[in-house]
Amino acid sequence: MQKITIAIDGYSSCGKSTLARALAHKLHYNYIDTGAMYRAVTLFAIRKGLISIDKPLEVDLLILKLDEIELHFELNAGNHHSDIFLNSENVESHIRSMEVSNCVSRVSAIKQVREKMVALQRQMGKGKAVVLDGRDIGSHVFPKAELKIFMTADADVRAKRRFDEYSSKGQYFDIEEVKHNLLKRDQEDLNRSESPLIKVEDAVVLDNSELTREEQLDFVLKLIADLHLISKEEHPQH
Ligand code: DC
Repeated sequence: MQKITIAIDGYSSCGKSTLARALAHKLHYNYIDTGAMYRAVTLFAIRKGLISIDKPLEVDLLILKLDEIELHFELNAGNHHSDIFLNSENVESHIRSMEVSNCVSRVSAIKQVREKMVALQRQMGKGKAVVLDGRDIGSHVFPKAELKIFMTADADVRAKRRFDEYSSKGQYFDIEEVKHNLLKRDQEDLNRSESPLIKVEDAVVLDNSELTREEQLDFVLKLIADLHLISKEEHPQH
């Protein structure tokens, strides 16, 4: 079967990573969690004292230090997930904290940060057979991706999912705070000047407010099957 690039964009906490991971597993594709990359850069900036929840980002200093950041993914044999490494340290368990979540939009809005991440993402995904999730994959990173999905879900459903995820890790927040954080990030992602979150014309919208994980996976597998059908009809000699 022809190897394709699958771009999954959408709002915060829509379950993009869950779907992307399931798809990659099913198709034996690589999975690139681009949000994890922006989170790892944010963690770096927090550790260097360049940003905090109450401190504005020291943009010029971060830009100067970008060359000190090396990121890569490694397959975790225990859970079959791809863990992100920041300068050889597995930071997977550090990048989902509320502190990183509160700072990441400010870091990901910086042009030089995005240029570095996009170059890395294109390098990692150049061989196709890849699923990437993020905000600008279909619009900017891989505009020629064969399949583009734009995910959305009701804000209360999203807040509850993120709240449950935090709780399962022993982190307890007010659900309204979780909702506030994700709506704020949506606004920042939609309104930034560098590669804002947009639904491109050729993306298929997937609202998963009332869909199970299996239903979402089936929906996308069907789209992939249809894609191959269309290309066969267009090129009947193949
Ligand atoms: O998907 P996530 O919530 O882990 O992403 C973290 C942040 O990174 C999110 O607030 C927006 C930003 N991001 C981005 O700007 N571009 C991407 N391709 C992926 C994430």
